[in-house]
Parts: sequence; C-alpha cells; structure tokens
Amino acid sequence: MLDLKDYGIEMWEEKKIASFRRTLLAWYDQEKRDLPWRRTQNPYKIWVSEIMLQQTQVVTVIPYYERFLDRFPTVADLASAPEEKLLKAWEGLGYYSRVRNMQKAAQQVMTDYGGQFPSDYDGIASLKGIGPYTAGAIASIAFNLPEPAVDGNVMRVMARLFEVDYDIGDPKNRKIFQAIMESLIDPDRPGDFNQALMDLGTDIESAKNPRPDESPIRFFSAAYLNGTMDKYPIKLPKKKPKPLQIQAFVIRNSHGDFLLEKNTEGRLLAGFWSFPLLETDFIGQQLDLFEDNSGAVMELLSQKTLFEQNYNLRPTWLDTAFIPVKHTFSHQKWTVELTEGWVNKDTLATGKELTWVSAEEFDQYPMATPQKKMVETYFKAKNQ
Ligand code: ADE
Repeated sequence: MLDLKDYGIEMWEEKKIASFRRTLLAWYDQEKRDLPWRRTQNPYKIWVSEIMLQQTQVVTVIPYYERFLDRFPTVADLASAPEEKLLKAWEGLGYYSRVRNMQKAAQQVMTDYGGQFPSDYDGIASLKGIGPYTAGAIASIAFNLPEPAVDGNVMRVMARLFEVDYDIGDPKNRKIFQAIMESLIDPDRPGDFNQALMDLGTDIESAKNPRPDESPIRFFSAAYLNGTMDKYPIKLPKKKPKPLQIQAFVIRNSHGDFLLEKNTEGRLLAGFWSFPLLETDFIGQQLDLFEDNSGAVMELLSQKTLFEQNYNLRPTWLDTAFIPVKHTFSHQKWTVELTEGWVNKDTLATGKELTWVSAEEFDQYPMATPQKKMVETYFKAKNQ
C-alpha cells in the first residue's frame, strides 16, 4: 500500500473525512444531474455509459446511449452483433476500439461468466477494455462497492484538495490519486461519491473555467485556502498530434457511383469505408524507386499516377477546387486534399476491399467523421 507521506501528502483525520463525505453528498443530493444512466443499477447499461463518457461529453453521449441500448438491450445482443451494425451505432463517437473491445468483453461475459455480468472488482477488471477507472465506476455505481473511479476530473479535484505536486498527465502518478480516494470514498454511498466528484470536476471544478467560490468543498481545499488554485493541478504539456498530408480520390463511374474502400484490419479506422486515401509527404509527392539500364534513379510519381497504378483505373481527372478537410485525432492531425476523377471502365482491382456506391446508399456503410466531412465538402463544391 502506497504511503501518501512519501509524496508530501498528509491525509486528514477521520472526523474531517466524515465531514467531507457529508458535505459532498449533501451537495450531490441537491445538485446532481438527471442523467439516463443514473436511473438504473444495471451493470451492462452503466458500463455502456462509462465507456461512451470516456472521451465524449455528456450532452453528446445521451442520444448515443439511448440508441445503443435500443439496438443492443442486453450483453447477449452486444456479443452477437454484426460488426457493421456495431460501428454504425458508434458512428461519430470516435475512438472505435472502445466499441470493438466492448463486444469482445460482452463475449467474455457470455463464455466466462455464463452471461451474468461479474459483480466483483477483479471480475469486472478482467474484461477487455475495462481499466481501473471503468472497473471502479461500475463496481461502485452498479454494485455499491467502495472502489474509487479515478479519471482526469477526479485527479484535478484531488490535486487541488491536497496540493498534489505530481503531474496528473503522467500515468505513473495515478496511484497517488487512487490512494487518496481510497481514504476518502464513502463506504455507504461509493457510487454517489464518485459521481459527485465527476459532476464537480466537469463543471464547478472544470479545467478551463473553474468557479472555485461556488465549490461545496472549497473549505476542505488546500489550494483554495492557500490561494494556489492557479498552480493546481500540475499538468505538463503533452506531445502534439503529428500533422499528416493526405490525398483523397473521389472517383465516380458512368452511373455516378462513388468508389469506396474499406479500411483493413489493424489500420486507423479499421472497418470503416472511405474514398481511397494516400498519405503524402509535405511536397505533395511520393518518392518511389525506379530501376532502369543506367542504374537506380529516384523518380517522383504524381499522386494520380500512384492512384492509377494501385487501383488499376484510368480516370479522367477534373480540376474541381475543394477546400481541404481537416480532422484531428489524438495522435494525428490530418489535412485532406480532394481530387476528383471519372472512369468509363470501372473494373475493380483485386486485393483490396472496393465497391461502387451511390450517394443514396452511403448510409448503409459505416463512415467515420473525416469521410463524412469529405462527402460534405464534395457536394458543397459541386452544388455551387
Ligand atoms: N463521466 C463519466 N462517468 C460519468 C457519470 N456516471 N456521470 C456523469 N459524468 C460522467
């Protein structure tokens, strides 16, 4: 067990801890948000909500949550869902490994737990995609177990309460906040205790616009009392997403259908359909090695040539001007240039998952946000 003193943190006495719990829970009873997943103790539903809420705001999550549970009302439904239906239900939420892992976990529940959601921390944490935060949230909310749910919000609140001098962005410091929470969590109402901190952390104690004078726990907060709210939490800058230049090919055949390609397994956005994409370097050309009698020479192949070779199509290229599409993932920042071409002969290359699709059929194909932006950009430019 970690000793908080080693980290310069003095835990409160029992009386103060009890008073803190009462204060926080009284505030929660008055102010808690009425959210759909707070009207259930069903661990499956709470799990769905917690996974969705990991990278997405509450207002965005609500309609997805309702729709997801309409489509997959039980763990068994999720376990047996076809991939396309699954991705469709998650379309627009991003971070798609979340839903793929959820399906694998649902299959684990069916095979390893006889269809019954595990009811203890270790069982819950054994499921694919469930880390300590989510396991703590499910254990405390659905099963009333005194398990902390430590996410960025909770770390921020704790850092201010105790003036914690450790970077909340560094995963190895999580254990400090976990230890603080293990001392503080209310053993009678652990789920409410955790959710009270979530509500506090997303609003009054938010990262960007905190309103410390309104915090129900301000008189417990070392940072508030010492006037050091500006300093806490300690959060060191993260690595920036890498800029990537991408070429997208909007290829249409004599019926006006569009060429779509399915992203293969293991790639970013696997399983989603998009216009064929080619990553390019900053001069907009791809280096390729070309061998001739005089020895090896470097030849610059144009984007269009590369497309023609890779897809075995000979489009007539148009010079329609499109506004580049921008999209930022956590680790990559895309700038996508669109190029339009039309083909008469539309035989598809083998070795890739390709298909011709009319615009009316687009909604039958899972498409991630960058592709949706490309479609929008394309039609905007063409309808002017
Ligand atoms: N964020 C993550 N989990 C949450 C919950 N249960 N309620 C509100 N916001 C949350």
